[in-house]
Amino acid sequence: MEFIQVKTYDELSTRAAAIIAAQVVLKADSVLGLATGSSPVGTYRKLAEKYEAGEVDFSRVRSVNLDEYVGLDGENDQSYRYFMNTNLFDHINIDKANTRVPNGLATDLAAECAAHDAHIEALGGIDLQLLGIGPNGHIAFNEPDSVFTAPTHVVELEESTIEANSRFFASRDEVPTRALTMGIGAIMKARRVLLVANGPKKKDTVQRAFFGPITPEVPASILQLHPNVTVIYSEE
Ligand code: GLP
Repeated sequence: MEFIQVKTYDELSTRAAAIIAAQVVLKADSVLGLATGSSPVGTYRKLAEKYEAGEVDFSRVRSVNLDEYVGLDGENDQSYRYFMNTNLFDHINIDKANTRVPNGLATDLAAECAAHDAHIEALGGIDLQLLGIGPNGHIAFNEPDSVFTAPTHVVELEESTIEANSRFFASRDEVPTRALTMGIGAIMKARRVLLVANGPKKKDTVQRAFFGPITPEVPASILQLHPNVTVIYSEE
């Protein structure tokens, strides 16, 4: 594992964007695993700047997203599809037909989970998976549990996650209680993993995830077993 500690969020975003841009420059049709949450927002802004500057071309990139709330459609400004469009896809030359976010409105959620995994397989797996980390150590929406769950699945969100994510919603009652999430399997099979975490609130989480025991109680701790992980942590 490569652990990079930087001072500012801007530095974190610059470093993360440089790694993702290098991936795309080296392999134009890369499969990027993408994440939501506040942590990658700066990284996406820097990637858009690199695109504007002509440094990177996303026209052949394919992407898959980690998760989506059950019950929100892509037009809802709290959905992760909307987040991806507005924070990244609308600002670069990726073909949206080549982007996949799990469908939170699917009538058959089990089939949608299976379709997400089948799609990742059909793309040949993920070249670079970007991750944030939840305060309780979750990655994507893999919540603390007694086991690691490999396939994409439906999760009941923990109270603490609903609480943490309620800052984006008008009220806590509007936060969906369930989500579709890529499992630990596709994340661990990604050829490279890049996790970004920032701020003093995440310090203890990062400590437990990367310097503590490997346990499904801290889902991100499984990444200690991944052969190619970069963690960028900024104090700010
Ligand atoms: C959500 C997402 C996670 C993300 C987490 C942390 O729960 N499902 O993928 O890592 O939020 O968000 P933030 O970066 O805003 O702390």
